[in-house]
Amino acid sequence: MTDNKNLPIGVFDSGLGGLTVVHAMQAVLPDEDILYLGDNARVPYGTRSPQTVERYAWNCADFLVQRGLKMLVVACNTASAVAVPSLQQRLDIPVLGVIHAGARAALCDPAHRRIGVIGTAGTVGTGAYPREIQALSSEVSVFQNPAPLLVPLVEEGWIEGEVPRLAVQKYLRPLVDARIDVLLLGCTHYPVLESLITAELAALGSCAQVVNSAEAMTIDVIEALNRHELNRTAAAPGKLQCFVTDLPGSFAEVATRFLGTPVGSVVKVDIS
Ligand code: DGL
Repeated sequence: MTDNKNLPIGVFDSGLGGLTVVHAMQAVLPDEDILYLGDNARVPYGTRSPQTVERYAWNCADFLVQRGLKMLVVACNTASAVAVPSLQQRLDIPVLGVIHAGARAALCDPAHRRIGVIGTAGTVGTGAYPREIQALSSEVSVFQNPAPLLVPLVEEGWIEGEVPRLAVQKYLRPLVDARIDVLLLGCTHYPVLESLITAELAALGSCAQVVNSAEAMTIDVIEALNRHELNRTAAAPGKLQCFVTDLPGSFAEVATRFLGTPVGSVVKVDIS
């Protein structure tokens, strides 16, 4: 595997939300090349059956792996919840998913005993987060609530004001009533709403700490690069190449907002 050091890391998501993971990776791993695939022709994954999401995830993985990768990061929580075990079993490169990273982030403070999770209906339905969190610590209780409207709100750029505030409030109230002391944002899109979510928790009288799986993911990536001796050795700074399965123009526009820097050329591909 040591020959592969200068190959890129592949990252995929159902759309552009996975760029929150890319953004976090670029901050701590500026030398790594990243190939990003956003399956925006078939977004959202969060409302589909586990069988369909697993098939889509394999289409994404096959596309990226064929281009040559040293590691695959499944940035989509819904795809991670259903497809990471089979990808890990059948691919001969390290495959990392956000569920494990998010679960670890939720347990970052041993004082946390009541953990709240919001995610898509698909992610919540699999029970992947409670399973992973309770595998790491049997002493915690996990409370989940699907928050399906938050993805389209972020896609529309509607991240401030009364409409997202009311949606966030509705999704958080049962978790606040359950007296959570940490809230895990178990979806690629939710970090974009983090300040609104933090403010709304406070307005509902909760002091819960907010954690997200995107930032936690970078710790797993760094650890895996070190463990497999895969850190890039080439001298040039790392590059990001983006692929999408539909409308590259609008992707580039919103992606620039996610990353805070222009994404450059975005290539449309057919992966199905
Ligand atoms: N990427 C998805 C996730 O993190 C959110 C968007 C979708 O439903 O596809 O679960």
